[in-house]
Amino acid sequence: MADEIVSVNEFQVLARQALPKMYYDFYAGGAEDEHTLKKNVQEFQRIILQPRVLVDVSNIAMSTNILGYTISAPIMISPTSMHKLAHPEGELATARAAAEFNTIMILSFSASSSVEEVAASCDAVRFFQLYVLKRRDIAVNLVQRAEKSGYKAIVLTADRPRRGRKEADIKNKMNLPQLKNLEGLISIEVFSDKGSNTKPYTNEIFDSSFCWRDIAWLKSITNLPILIKGILTREDATKAMEVGAAGIIVSNHGGRQLDYTPATISVLEEVVQAVGRKVPVLLDGGVRRGTDVFKALALGAQAVLVGRPVIYGLAAKGEAGVRKVMHMLKDELELTMALAGCPTLKDISRSHVRTDRDRLQ
Ligand code: FNR
Repeated sequence: MADEIVSVNEFQVLARQALPKMYYDFYAGGAEDEHTLKKNVQEFQRIILQPRVLVDVSNIAMSTNILGYTISAPIMISPTSMHKLAHPEGELATARAAAEFNTIMILSFSASSSVEEVAASCDAVRFFQLYVLKRRDIAVNLVQRAEKSGYKAIVLTADRPRRGRKEADIKNKMNLPQLKNLEGLISIEVFSDKGSNTKPYTNEIFDSSFCWRDIAWLKSITNLPILIKGILTREDATKAMEVGAAGIIVSNHGGRQLDYTPATISVLEEVVQAVGRKVPVLLDGGVRRGTDVFKALALGAQAVLVGRPVIYGLAAKGEAGVRKVMHMLKDELELTMALAGCPTLKDISRSHVRTDRDRLQ
């Protein structure tokens, strides 16, 4: 490969070279047949751009506002677990890159650095991603710690009542280390030779009875806005509005949970229509190009988030790698906006893209 890295996908190749197979597979893999994992990327590629020419594009404005926080471009960082398996500086490096890029990082519940450590390491705007365990006191503990450490929102991940079945992790006997945020609260058993610990430890401690009516309880323990991540249908988008979600993240967990769910980009419009601009709709899953960001915005997302690209950048080149990934996506978005005749984000409209559905009509 040439020395200069020119696209996000090249970081995946570098990450594969840098990481032990077990960890690379853990990050890159999806559930079962990995149908959804692949579709997330492929469905972006089926959408065609419809540019306008002879527009003054001498200045391109990309900054936007999410729940009152201004970010440099509509590209945020998805919550992903265990950054220290990718790089010794882990989430601290990711958070510093987020601060430099001026975007929002969502810290994973399953991070390898604590809520407090990440808060102390940088002044990026941070949201905290929550799973609710059977022991509800742990959610209370984590939410209070996040509030105290200056996190600005809670992101409730709703698509994981149980852990999806990632076959590579089973084969590799992948063992997750103790979750940093749960230290002193729950201890995770790491197996030396009994196979992967990923399934038992999540399924035994997660509260798979948690449902829509429990959002009222979650709201009662925090004043922070609550976003719901993992919405894929108009029905659930409507329910999220009814329970007072402050935002929605259209997500299928990067194809790691229920296989054969649709690519996120193909259901975005339906969710946006159900939400009707009442709250921000964000999307993650398969965003690898500035053109992907543009397509998601054209179909109604207020911003996108990236998961694996950040991990690949981190694994390959630490904090500098994450910065490079984010800047590459932003630079590509800027060029796409210029070439499509959209000097501002508001100029990006539904008529700038053509989807399969449009072709059928
Ligand atoms: C994730 N994801 C995730 N989501 C979440 O809410 N909490 C978590 O702890 C994790 N952990 C996690 C680990 C790894 C290795 C991956 C790849 C993903 C899902 C993540 O937030 C996001 O939805 C997807 O990563 C988005 O898809 P892309 O950008 O990876 O294609």
